[in-house]
Amino acid sequence: MSHTIKAVYPGSFDPITNGHIYIAERAAGLFDELTVSILINPEKRATFSVDERKTMAIEALSHLPNVKVDSFTGLLVDFLRQERSRIIIRGLRALSDFEYEFQLAQMNRQLAPEIETLFIVTDARYSYLSSHAVKDIFNFGGPVQEMVPPGVYRRLRERFPRFDK
Ligand code: PNS
Repeated sequence: MSHTIKAVYPGSFDPITNGHIYIAERAAGLFDELTVSILINPEKRATFSVDERKTMAIEALSHLPNVKVDSFTGLLVDFLRQERSRIIIRGLRALSDFEYEFQLAQMNRQLAPEIETLFIVTDARYSYLSSHAVKDIFNFGGPVQEMVPPGVYRRLRERFPRFDK
């Protein structure tokens, strides 16, 4: 009997960067299905709405046929159970990510022992890339074209026209 192995790659994706795309590509190569799932967090002020983030992620991942984009509220482990997945994918950049990621993984293990968190190490090109850094660099007039997919670059320019160089 064959069965489909599904993984979930959760995050804020505000907005999706080339680093996220790299992790999604690697994970898509390992599992039958991957759901990139955007956290709807009313307590955190996001730059882009969930719908905008979803649209940008769908565009950026359209070359990966076994990847879908979704969103979730509440606990991540509840979303995984609903999706019938037992694998959480997170990307690791530098050692500095580790403490936060370790805590998240431990919490999720306590909440749902049947679920595993798997880490994919990013490519050296993306070691220091983050959504926050992209927005900061763009706001100060720096070049971000190499860091994000074209759809995100276009939306950054539309959203912050006064910073466009
Ligand atoms: O891209 P981010 O912001 O680092 O992603 C963090 C995310 C969305 C994976 C994490 O905040 C999350 O899973 N939140 C949902 C709430 C939850 O399940 N919390 C319990 C674990 S501490």
